[in-house]
Amino acid sequence: MKILVATEKPFAPAAIEQIRAVAWAEDCELGLLENYKNIGEFKTAVSDADALIVRSDFVTDEILSAAKKLKIVVRAGAGYDNLDLDACTAHGVVAMNTPGQNSNAVAELVFEMMLYHARGGFSGGTGTELRGKKLGIHAFGNVGKYVADIGRGFGMITYAFDPFVNDNIITSSGAKVCRHIDELYSTCQYVSLHLPANKSTVKSIGYNLLINMPFNAVLINTARKEIIDEEELLKIFENRPDFRYLSDVEPDCKPVFEEKYKGRYLFTEKKMGAQTKEANMNAGIAAAKQIISYFKTGDERYRVNK
Ligand code: 3PG
Repeated sequence: MKILVATEKPFAPAAIEQIRAVAWAEDCELGLLENYKNIGEFKTAVSDADALIVRSDFVTDEILSAAKKLKIVVRAGAGYDNLDLDACTAHGVVAMNTPGQNSNAVAELVFEMMLYHARGGFSGGTGTELRGKKLGIHAFGNVGKYVADIGRGFGMITYAFDPFVNDNIITSSGAKVCRHIDELYSTCQYVSLHLPANKSTVKSIGYNLLINMPFNAVLINTARKEIIDEEELLKIFENRPDFRYLSDVEPDCKPVFEEKYKGRYLFTEKKMGAQTKEANMNAGIAAAKQIISYFKTGDERYRVNK
């Protein structure tokens, strides 16, 4: 049996070593395609694979059509908006993610960005502190919980809005429950986004929410750029000179920010949230183990397609 790891943005070498160890322990071959430059390379590499591990790599109908032997694809990470789930189902391929495995890394990046920004990019000027500031967590999943923990460590006052999560889970992390989304945005100077990108969340963060944020508002997005209504965000930037946006990956409208809003934003060039050795190891090993366990026992615990 062959497992292919196909990652345009490679895992840390230590993670690959561990993934290989999991595969070899079960007499599986491990193929590796890193830093690929085009879909053709991906299609060739996946043609004889029984199982596939990816990160944010797009697994489309075209890829699946080239993967004649493929039975399972695991997105080593949380968000699986890069997997065409309907196509996976149509090709008889089980699709999974590895929830929680890279959450701490993403949560730490939230604070790395907040701190860097609050200290003026370490330029020598006078900055501000996080202690005592209100931090709103929009969606309280695995990452949101870590954000609440770290925020509390910094002495921030944490709030959360998530209609799908039990109040106890939020309050036991020391955060206050917001019953309505508007409450979160109108209360918190800092709002950190942890929503998945799907039909109901794409472009869901826009003018009506952001305009009510308190003075010196900072929106932090380590989720997906697609959940922001960029046109409306630009309208906010035009109307509110105090507004800041920190985002893990550049928005499509980055040229406008560069031209008009210098000093009011921070964008990473490549998605950095899960780019730690620890997160790569956690997610990579979990993905390999899920594949083995699926083949051995039919375990479909983390399946995300029907
Ligand atoms: C995730 O959804 O798990 C994160 O966004 C990480 O994505 P990456 O593996 O492409 O860094």
